[in-house]
Amino acid sequence: MKTVIANWKSNPNSLREAARLAKSIEKHASLNRKAEVVIAPPFIYLSDVKKEVSTAKLGAQDVFGNEGGAYTGAINLAQLKNTGVKYVIIGHSERRRYFGETDEFINKKVTAALAYGFKVVLCVGNKEKMSDPSNFVNKQLTADLKGVSSKDKIRNLIVAYEPIWAIGTGNADNPQSAAEVSLRIKEHINKLMGVGKIKVLYGGSVTDKNIRSFISRNKIDGVLVGGASLNPSMFGRIIKAANELG
Ligand code: PGA
Repeated sequence: MKTVIANWKSNPNSLREAARLAKSIEKHASLNRKAEVVIAPPFIYLSDVKKEVSTAKLGAQDVFGNEGGAYTGAINLAQLKNTGVKYVIIGHSERRRYFGETDEFINKKVTAALAYGFKVVLCVGNKEKMSDPSNFVNKQLTADLKGVSSKDKIRNLIVAYEPIWAIGTGNADNPQSAAEVSLRIKEHINKLMGVGKIKVLYGGSVTDKNIRSFISRNKIDGVLVGGASLNPSMFGRIIKAANELG
């Protein structure tokens, strides 16, 4: 089953627009339920998006901490769980870049979110184009997954390979090399913790035009979509392609 995640980032600016987008995504997700569809809106819309979806699952774009306490501005895992969130994106390159998140910090969040039973979408990716990004990406994974073992609900781990140079640029990676990196990621996770069956998604300028070239490769289990997930008809076609390619 392919996975398609809509990462709305800090969009849209009104609840009305968020509800409209969610309604459209739900409509497409429920037409043919072969693919798993996840919407990750800004925190502020989670409860309202939840009212619009039944087939599509709810995701959060980040999290901080387990149970809450004196952490101004933070959203914790218990709050997400009680709001119906099933997926949590951790380590997105924009969190690393604009909010100074380190591998050590990301590692704490991944560990806590897995222990809490969330599906964790751990994002990794190289800044500049590289002929073989696998070493870089696998180093990031080793740091982000430090101390996590096959006992830690590792089946709930999803890795999103997102080359930073491809994000929001309209310049997606070459599907063949993205598939090779995905394979290396799976091999690396297998070496790290003896589990080879985790899902690896590709992210970075995915559109309705290029999605098939990524997910038709069996090493790529789905896509993490930013910009195109804000366009209801384009994202509808992305979901359709994921459903068709099963
Ligand atoms: P993009 O973003 O689809 O707009 O390139 C992807 C992401 O950052 O997850």
